[in-house]
This record gives sequence, structure tokens and C-alpha cells, in this order.
Amino acid sequence: MKRSFFTGLICSLIVFCVSAQERSVPTYLDDSKPLEQRVEDALSRMTLEEKVAMVHAQSKFSSAGCSRLGIPEIWMSDGPNGIRPELMWDSFKAVGWTNDSCTAFPALTCLAATFDPQLAMEYGIAIGAEARYRKKDILLGPGVNIYRTPLNGRNFEYMGEDPYLASQMVVPYIQGVQQNGVAACLKHFALNNQERWRHNINVEVSDRALYEIYLPAFKAGVQEGDVWAVMGAYNLFRGQHCCHHDLLLNQILRNEWGFEGVVVSDWGGVYDTDESARNGLDIEMGTWSDGLSYGRAFAYDDYFLARPFLKKIESGELPLQLLDDKVRRVLRLVFRTNMDRNRPWGSFATEAHADISRRIAEQGIVLLKNETPLFPVPVGKYNRILVVGENATKSLTVGGGSSELKVKKEVSPLEGLIDKYGEETIYYTSGYTSEPQKYNADSLMQEALNLAKSADVVIYIGGLNKNPFQDSEAHDRKAFDLPYGQNDLIESLLGVNKNTGVVIISGNGIAMPWIDQVPAIIQSWYLGSQAGNALANVISGEVNPSGKLPFSIPKKLNDNGANSFGPSVYPGDSINVYYKEDILVGYRWFDTKKIEPQFPFGFGLSYTTFNYGKLITENKEYSKSDVIRLSCSISNNGQNDGAETLQIYSSQQHPSLPRPLKELKAFQKVFLKVGETKTVSFSIPVEDLAFFDDEKHEWVVEPDRFTLSVATSSADIRSSVRIKVIE
Ligand code: BGC
Repeated sequence: MKRSFFTGLICSLIVFCVSAQERSVPTYLDDSKPLEQRVEDALSRMTLEEKVAMVHAQSKFSSAGCSRLGIPEIWMSDGPNGIRPELMWDSFKAVGWTNDSCTAFPALTCLAATFDPQLAMEYGIAIGAEARYRKKDILLGPGVNIYRTPLNGRNFEYMGEDPYLASQMVVPYIQGVQQNGVAACLKHFALNNQERWRHNINVEVSDRALYEIYLPAFKAGVQEGDVWAVMGAYNLFRGQHCCHHDLLLNQILRNEWGFEGVVVSDWGGVYDTDESARNGLDIEMGTWSDGLSYGRAFAYDDYFLARPFLKKIESGELPLQLLDDKVRRVLRLVFRTNMDRNRPWGSFATEAHADISRRIAEQGIVLLKNETPLFPVPVGKYNRILVVGENATKSLTVGGGSSELKVKKEVSPLEGLIDKYGEETIYYTSGYTSEPQKYNADSLMQEALNLAKSADVVIYIGGLNKNPFQDSEAHDRKAFDLPYGQNDLIESLLGVNKNTGVVIISGNGIAMPWIDQVPAIIQSWYLGSQAGNALANVISGEVNPSGKLPFSIPKKLNDNGANSFGPSVYPGDSINVYYKEDILVGYRWFDTKKIEPQFPFGFGLSYTTFNYGKLITENKEYSKSDVIRLSCSISNNGQNDGAETLQIYSSQQHPSLPRPLKELKAFQKVFLKVGETKTVSFSIPVEDLAFFDDEKHEWVVEPDRFTLSVATSSADIRSSVRIKVIE
């Protein structure tokens, strides 16, 4: 009797404890439970109003959580190359914190120019840590819109003209960011290839160009990078806005690619409740704002996915399952980010991040021309080095739109050069100005010419900047030429001092009418916090340049595919733009049309020279499921240690549909000491030789002969092999 009383007591205590424990840890809070179970559990506990609150903004950069259930808000921040300063709840003005000055990483054009996926991983890890430290759950980047025309004001935020290069670089970036428990947000999906009329231009493009050129980097980000968020684009495609686009978001992103993350709208890119409800949008942001400056005050309840959506669900006009699907996706992101108790704490504006930023900058700088050779300029060689150009001193992390940053430290090129060569050696004058109302252009030029006459060497540091109509969001460039009278200035400088090297800082190609007179040209990018140190290291020869162009630079604007047809093909007529160059974007156009660019895609010189061996393949015949293995030896036969990027291009002999002359299929950057030889191996799945057959709506590899070439740029093949693909 006694025993059974105690046994009963103990049993009830156990039951009480277990159920108390169950009560205190519901499934959605239990991180030992599978993600989908947690999502379903949380969803089942939420009211209709709580669900609706999660699918639209509550402030300029956040969306609601569910406080009753302890589910936190989602906080987002730009941008692809640094964490934006903290902004006001309901405006784009900075709050004015004193602890939000970040590391500026190089712009993504520079990252692409490194041709180094390992650096992309380091970039992602570091920027993700900065986002995490600042309590951001979604980093609004990276951007992978293809470089279609050098006039696009936002090309600097993207990864160049080649879908394979962009894919290879974006995947590790995403993985790096997300290791921090911060979602990357791949943007702008899709076809946002110009800023002009970006809110209302309708893109018409073939399925082939869509699948072969404009989608691959997004697909890689989703399928290989496992990105947790994607941002819709502002523009329309085939008559529908991309932020609620049936074909892009429902059919391609979700159905074809299996994306189970969140689609965030671009800021002010949503126009309709029904379309957003049905066509794949999950979080509506920035409605009634242009994404940058203007915004209707506290309009959040009126958002298309707010009260209007709620009403339509309540009245039965829209099914609840549409909302549930969105909330599931949002919850998934929440569990992966701000409800992941194991995510690291992050770190912000550290020395280590400055160091990564500098290394990426150094590896991305491209040496375009070097006769004499003018570069490197060793420390101690000259007594008088004249630096000319506004970009030597102008902050280039400020401006440009949503990617603008407030940096803890930005070393300007002039500071970097003074630090390297000493104050007594470096002389500076701006030579031109982007603020003509403040200064007299003639006297600026005159002063530069006077100083140049007596300089041992002139280093010109100009290019574009982040002002409107330069490399900046919301506008495209007005001209391919350098602005602010720089062409005249460069030519005049060369008239008085032949020993003038030109450094272009930009995110876009520019016209170079002075190219024949200039002995040396460096293409630099927006290099971020360590710009000056990176540039000085390359100019002085401490670092051997190894960047390669991620886009082709035409001799004249009309040589470029999209710019060769007339206004309907770029920029359009304000309503439609027709991508008539189709799959022939970038080097695909120059190659196939036999137009010589000023500088080809993949091009970049070094302070040393490399000797390519023969490209070798063990097999000459492959079936469609095989992997082609290639190897090539490469030696550094020059005078400096340095790195080279070997590029493998393929071309099909008799395709049944027109194909570009060649397409990039693999690349590898290798570092070689003086005299060193390495053998570099490549593996290319035969299925990567496919083209997209728009009639069959599938990727097709045809049995045919293919040439595979190893090249130092898209225009300079060093060795080739012929292979046969059989049924
Ligand atoms: C830009 C996005 C950016 C967003 C938020 C928009 O104007 O297009 O790239 O992430 O603003 O700042």
C-alpha cells in the first residue's frame, strides 16, 4: 500500500515535470527539432494578424516578429560592400550613432577581378561578421546583375559580364556571410541591368539569353550557395514587375530551382496586392519610397501585403495558404538567423577585416598597360613624384546610393602614397574637379601642368566617382568618356611629361582616347577602407598586380553589343528595352562579331611574365555524363613572384543553334615564385558544355567536336585541345 502510494507520487511527479518541461519548451523553440517541425509549430500558434505583420515592413529596414511567441523582428542592412550606418525608423537619414562606422570592403567588381573564390569566401565571412555584430539578420547583397553596358550606374556593385565568373564568386561570398547566422540577400532578381527608368522599364529578352546569361549566377547562389533570401528587381520583365513575377519567382526560382527561402522586394518595387500575394513575394519593403530618399511617412499598414492583404484573406478573396507559405519562409529565415542560439557574435571594423579588405583590393587591381615599363615605381627611385587627380583624395565610400558607407577609416590613394614614398617625395594637385562651381578648371589644369614639368614621374589618379550620373544608383552614366575634362587634362599632362601613368578608379569601363600616348594604365576599383595602401603597394611593386578584367572595355561605346543597335536596345524608350544582342554579351559579342575591344574580358598584366605549357587531356572522347580533365603547366619566367589566372574557354564546332565563339568554363589563379613551375588541373563536367534550347526548355549538350582552350584573357589563347562528345 505504502509502496504504491510512493510509486504513484513519483510517477505523477515525473509526468508533471515532463509536461512542465514540454510546456516550457514548445517545439518551435526547441533547436534539437528539425527546422520544418519548428516552422509548422510556430505557424500553428499564430493569429492571422500576427502572420500578416510578418510579410511587410514595420520600418524602413525591419519587418515584424511575433513578440507574443518570442519571435524577433528581422533587421536588414545594405549593402554588398559594407554595413550601412544605422538609419532612422521611418526615413533614410542616418541616426547619427558614433559606433556604426564600418569596414568598407572593395566593390564587387574588384572582388570579381581577383578571380579568386577563396577571397570571396573571406570577404563573405568578414562582411557577415560585421552585419552580425550590428545585429542585422539580412545583408542586402551580393548583387549579380550582368554587366550589359558600361553606362549602367550600378555595375560597380556587381560581378561583371560573365555568368560563370559571377557564379563562381558569388557562391563562396554567400556561404561566408551565412556562416555568421546572417542571411545573404541575392539581388536584384532579375534583369536589372540599367538604372535609367529602373522603376518602369520593361525588359524583353529571349529565353536563351535569360537562361544562359542573366540567370546562372542567381541559380548558383540558390542551388550551390543555398542563399536564404533573394531580392526582386525594380524593373518589369515581359510586362510584369519583377518583385511579384509569376515566371521569375514562382516558376523559375521556386519550382525549377527549389528555392525555399524568402523573397524580399526591392524598396518601393511592389505595386499590387493580388500579384504580390500570388507571385512569390514574401516580405514587402519600402513601398512608397524610391528606395533612397523619398518616402511616404509611416505607411506600413497600407502596404499591399498589410491591411489590404488581410482584408482579402478575411473575405476569402485570397486563400490563407498563400499567406502561410510566406510566413513559413520568413520563419525558416528567422530560425536560421536571429533564433539560432549558436550563431557567432560577429566583429566590427577590426584590424583583421581591414587586412582582408586590403588583400582583396590588392588582388583585384588590374594592370592594363605597362610600357617602358613605368610601373612599378620603386621606393627611393625618384625624388619628385607628382600625384594628379581628384580621386587621389576624394572619399569614394560616400555616395553611390544604397551602398554608401560610413567608414571607420578610409586610406585615400594620396595618403597611401605619402605613407609609402614619404612626404618629401610626393607632390599633389587635383588637376580637375567634380565641383566646378567651387574651383576654376583652367587654373587647376595649369597648376598640374606646371608641376608636371619638373616631376620625375606623374601618377594620375582619376576616373569616375560616386556622384549622380557616374557610378551611382538611380541614374546611368550620360557618356562613355571620362567626366570633368579629364581627357584634356591627361593629354595635356602627357604633353609636358611623358612619364605619366594613369590610374582609373571606376566600376565601369571608360573611353581611353589617349591610350596610345600613355605608357602605363592601372584599372583600380572602389577599393574600400584600405584603398590607398593597396594601391601604393601595387604601384611600388610590393604587391605584384594579378587582377583580371571582369568585363570587356570597348574602344568606343557603339562597339559594345547592347550599345550598337540604337536606343530601343539601350536604354529603351522609357517603356520597353529590347535585349537584341541576345546571348552575345561582353566578350561573347566582341569575339563573335570580330570587333577588337580596347581591353578584353579576363585581361590583366603582371610585373612578371608567365610561360604556358600545352593544354593536355587524357581523353579525346567523352560521353555526356563524363567529367573532362585538363591540365596545363605554367612557369613564372620573369623577375618577380606573382599570380596568374588561367582561363579555360570552350567552343562548339557545329552547334544546331548559334553559339558564341567561346565561353568561359573554368579558371584558376595560381601563385608562382620566380622560376617556379606548377601544373594546374581543371575538371569540367561535359554537361557544362550545354546551351539552353529554348524550344525544348532544357539544357542540351550536342554530340559534336569542341575546342577547349587555355587562355590568359578571352582574347589570348595559349593552347587548345579538341575533344569529341558522343551520345
Ligand atoms: C536598392 C537596393 C537596396 C535597397 C535598400 C534600393 O534602392 O535598389 O539594392 O538594397 O534600396 O536600401
